[in-house]
Amino acid sequence: MIRFEGVAKSYPGVDRPVVDGLDLAVAEGSTCVLIGPSGCGKSTTLRMVNRLVVPSAGRVCVAGEDVAGLDPIGLRRRIGYVLQGIGLFPHYSVAQNVATVPRLLGWPARRVAERVDAMLDLVGLDPAAFRDRRPDALSGGQRQRVGVARALAADPPVLLMDEPFGAVDPLVRGRLQGEIRAILRRLGKTVLMVTHDIDEAVRMGDRVALMRAGRLVQADPPETLLAQPADAFAAEFVGGDRLLRRLALIPARAACQAGAQAQAPRLPADASLKDALTLLLASGAAAAVIEGAEGILTLDGVREAARESGGFTSRA
Ligand SMILES: Nc1ncnc2c1ncn2[C@@H]1O[C@H](COP(=O)(O)OP(=O)(O)OP(=O)(O)O)[C@@H](O)[C@H]1O
Ligand SMILES: [Mg+2]
Repeated sequence: MIRFEGVAKSYPGVDRPVVDGLDLAVAEGSTCVLIGPSGCGKSTTLRMVNRLVVPSAGRVCVAGEDVAGLDPIGLRRRIGYVLQGIGLFPHYSVAQNVATVPRLLGWPARRVAERVDAMLDLVGLDPAAFRDRRPDALSGGQRQRVGVARALAADPPVLLMDEPFGAVDPLVRGRLQGEIRAILRRLGKTVLMVTHDIDEAVRMGDRVALMRAGRLVQADPPETLLAQPADAFAAEFVGGDRLLRRLALIPARAACQAGAQAQAPRLPADASLKDALTLLLASGAAAAVIEGAEGILTLDGVREAARESGGFTSRA
């Protein structure tokens, strides 16, 4: 759906290319997360998709068409764009912000109003309470929800998100990430997203593309990146606590074994192995029970499942 073919970007007076020979494809309906150190070229890569930046070499295709040949205004209406914090128009109400692209597209007023309410509902904001507020009367998390509602309003098939949760308080961030991911999946959007938070990348991405100094180091599903980092840089970047991150991706119910224990603490049906490990260690209980799953989960069960899920050695 989005394809980078040998894409490079250089600026006059800057000795090294900012993006250097990038080949990357984002499959339709999937989310790809670009991650890497500050200045490695993530935002530049993202902005080449909607032609805010023009490549110096190679091409970027959306739905099979080279964006270089497309009208930039029409292109940007087909591609939602979510930015960190500054994205909303401060002098517009929430409703006016969400209505931006439908209005540009000339939708009748009634249809725009219905769409605004539907989008606010979608992102978990009560339209009656939020429609007429200004962005400065919202929390960081609410502002990001409005940003997503606005980007989705004209139902673009492709969404670009540049550090969309960067300004959101860490406590709210996890829930917001989960909700937005569920919405994007349900709607079947093709998403290219930038972050420098590895946990966010693992939580949101079907694939995670790690960049360094304008080059792609590794593009893989999160569990592969964590289990088999391509080189020492990737291993360093995903960090020493990657075992715990990996456990967070495995459903705890998969590790249940036969047995029963009346007094065992309970975990929700969608708990991960990391949740199970945390509960078992914190409670000192010998076993836990997962809602809706047969049997019990023990520390040995967690260890066994972690081992079965693959090695943790670097290929480097
Ligand atoms: N217009 C420009 N002219 C010259 N250099 C630029 C220009 N725009 C970006 N750069 C340089 O390109 C490099 C990559 O920038 P980019 O914004 O893509 O990084 P990034 O990976 O998004 O970083 P961050 O995580 O800090 O947002 C940086 O070194 C930046 O200074
Ligand atoms: Mg950036």
